[in-house]
Amino acid sequence: MSAKLGCNVRGLNKKAASAPKAVARTVKAAAASGEVPDMGKRNVMNLLLVGAIGLPATSLVGGYAYFFVPPSAGGGGAGQPAKDKNGNDVKSKEWLKTHLAGDRTLSQGLKGDATYIIVKDDGTIENYGLNAVCTHLGCVVPWNKAENKFKCPCHGSQYNNEGKVIRGPAPLSLALAHANINEADVVVFSPWTETDFRTGLEPWWK
Ligand code: FES
Repeated sequence: MSAKLGCNVRGLNKKAASAPKAVARTVKAAAASGEVPDMGKRNVMNLLLVGAIGLPATSLVGGYAYFFVPPSAGGGGAGQPAKDKNGNDVKSKEWLKTHLAGDRTLSQGLKGDATYIIVKDDGTIENYGLNAVCTHLGCVVPWNKAENKFKCPCHGSQYNNEGKVIRGPAPLSLALAHANINEADVVVFSPWTETDFRTGLEPWWK
């Protein structure tokens, strides 16, 4: 009786040992019979998968960009309309009715920074604006008409009428922005990336 039992146990162990081989044979057989997709089918499936994920993802990114990127004001380049204190676009003709030669008045410029619109001696708007943020510690620098310069109230830095630093502790001149009038008569600021005409240096604010 115990010898027969030992035989059965050995038989079971043999079957258990041969089980992984049987599984491997089954997988091979399945592959041979076409149940596992061949390379061509897999490529097609991959393309479909990319399309299924890519199309909605592209739509999402497009929608996101449309929502967050401000529309261009036209007139060429990435521009942003100057805004007056009421948040309205600055229209050149309207502005010049109340802002005379030599005037420097704050508007809202690129990235929301306070930016001076300059009226030239001939009564037209200068083709650059001055970012009013002091290059020392960031106070907004007021225009001092009587002294024909910008004077920072925080630590005494001074800038000439073009925003070039003439007294520290501010280390740098006020940042420039292009100011152009578009076809709708709106003053449009755009980034100044060229040489700083006041210093002959590359713009530090780029
Ligand atoms: S913040 Fe203008 S001088 Fe210091």
